[in-house]
Amino acid sequence: MANRPVGFFDSGLGGASVLREALRLLPNENYIYYGDNANAPYGDRTEEDITALTFRSAHRLVDMGVKAIVLACNTATATCINQIRNEFSIPVISIEPAIKPACSLPGTGKVLMMATKATTHLERYLRLRERMPDPERVINIPCPGIVERIESGKLGAEDYDDLFAEFLAPYKGIEVDAIVLGCTHYIFIKDAFRRNAALHLNGGCQLVDGNEGTVRQLGRVLEAHNLTNHAGCGNVTFRTSGDNNRIKPIFDMLISKQEL
Ligand code: DGL
Repeated sequence: MANRPVGFFDSGLGGASVLREALRLLPNENYIYYGDNANAPYGDRTEEDITALTFRSAHRLVDMGVKAIVLACNTATATCINQIRNEFSIPVISIEPAIKPACSLPGTGKVLMMATKATTHLERYLRLRERMPDPERVINIPCPGIVERIESGKLGAEDYDDLFAEFLAPYKGIEVDAIVLGCTHYIFIKDAFRRNAALHLNGGCQLVDGNEGTVRQLGRVLEAHNLTNHAGCGNVTFRTSGDNNRIKPIFDMLISKQEL
């Protein structure tokens, strides 16, 4: 069982940012990545839709023989992580917007949590926010439109100026200590976040994400279940519900991209 691959799932290519971290921290595991690119983005869909699509994708991974699943998708986690855990007997690791580390940063400024529309509205996330020492410090900003552009392979710092101008307009000039990248896709456009923070906001605007924490949790869970592979070599198999010829080259480029 320990020699089996770990399954990674995202609505599309965002989970590749978590997988890239796993390749760095857990290089002796092998991986199967499943992107539901044909149905991305999930963030503008209903809860029922997201749940059905996540179940279908998780079943695909289990059918491919994975020993554990990483839901490398904040939107799917916020929507249905409990149901997914109830459905499968293998361990399921998930990712949530990293507002906890962001809120522990010193400062008197705000924490902007930028994510998909679904994540910012779902109860699981809202409850997490309520548990912060000062929930009012966290401003939720839904960001429709970003994921589609990343899925098309656009990663330039200036490619997102129009969207950021719209999302940040209500907060022009405010003091911001941290920006939480609450969607795994956003890791690939950190330059666009930095550029637009400088254009529209004040303060340190430190970028915070949950990728490393999620991969460390994966390592701990595998260990606890005696599922750690010591003989793997970071082999990655890519599967998608979308057009493999178009998407695979973007996936390969993202996986090999150096940390920004
Ligand atoms: N990458 C995903 C997340 O972390 C979902 C993006 C989407 O499909 O809208 O939320």
